[in-house]
Amino acid sequence: MFCGWLWRFSSDRMAYEIRRLRGTGGDYTQGETPVSVLESIATLTGMSPGVRVLDLGCGRGSALAYWAIRYNVAPIGIEAIPIVAETAEWTLRYLGLSGTIICGGLESIEWPVADVIVVAGTCFSTETTAAIRRQMRRCQVGTTLVAISVELPEENWVLVRTIPARFAWGETMIRVYNSRPC
Ligand SMILES: C[S@@+](CC[C@H](N)C(=O)[O-])C[C@H]1O[C@@H](n2cnc3c(N)ncnc32)[C@H](O)[C@@H]1O
Repeated sequence: MFCGWLWRFSSDRMAYEIRRLRGTGGDYTQGETPVSVLESIATLTGMSPGVRVLDLGCGRGSALAYWAIRYNVAPIGIEAIPIVAETAEWTLRYLGLSGTIICGGLESIEWPVADVIVVAGTCFSTETTAAIRRQMRRCQVGTTLVAISVELPEENWVLVRTIPARFAWGETMIRVYNSRPC
């Protein structure tokens, strides 16, 4: 019942609730993706029950929690900052959602298999982006990857859509790639 109540709010509201209950900083210090963009990503990738969604740099897990509640996807997150990863785990648990949060850097962790991968890459370093591109070369054919702000051109991926997206800090581009056989 609580979940039903919660998803009626925007992700900003959800982030506020999470912050209030857990006390881990401001909504925008972790740069959470707003609900309008989460909805665009869900539509672009055809999120539906059971789809495995991997959020690279999942922050406090609000995007994953939103998609899990709204679309019943299977959430998986990787997050470098231990207290933030712990909060993402807590978010899923608190909302009664099952999922996996891995604490560590994208540069050193092998990604779990997923159907949809989301990269909110606005603040990623050049090294992190290079590491993401290396792992993209190893992804299964048929995976969809959504990149916010960053361009991730790889030989085994085809760019299928580019759309604008509005954040609290301004407008950026979202790119959707599909992996294909080399
Ligand atoms: C902009 S926030 C995005 C949060 C969430 N994905 C969303 O869209 O709402 C980016 C997150 O990536 C994490 N991050 C940055 N570099 C990372 C790295 N190298 N490995 C894992 N996580 C990283 C940050 O700690 C931060 O929580």
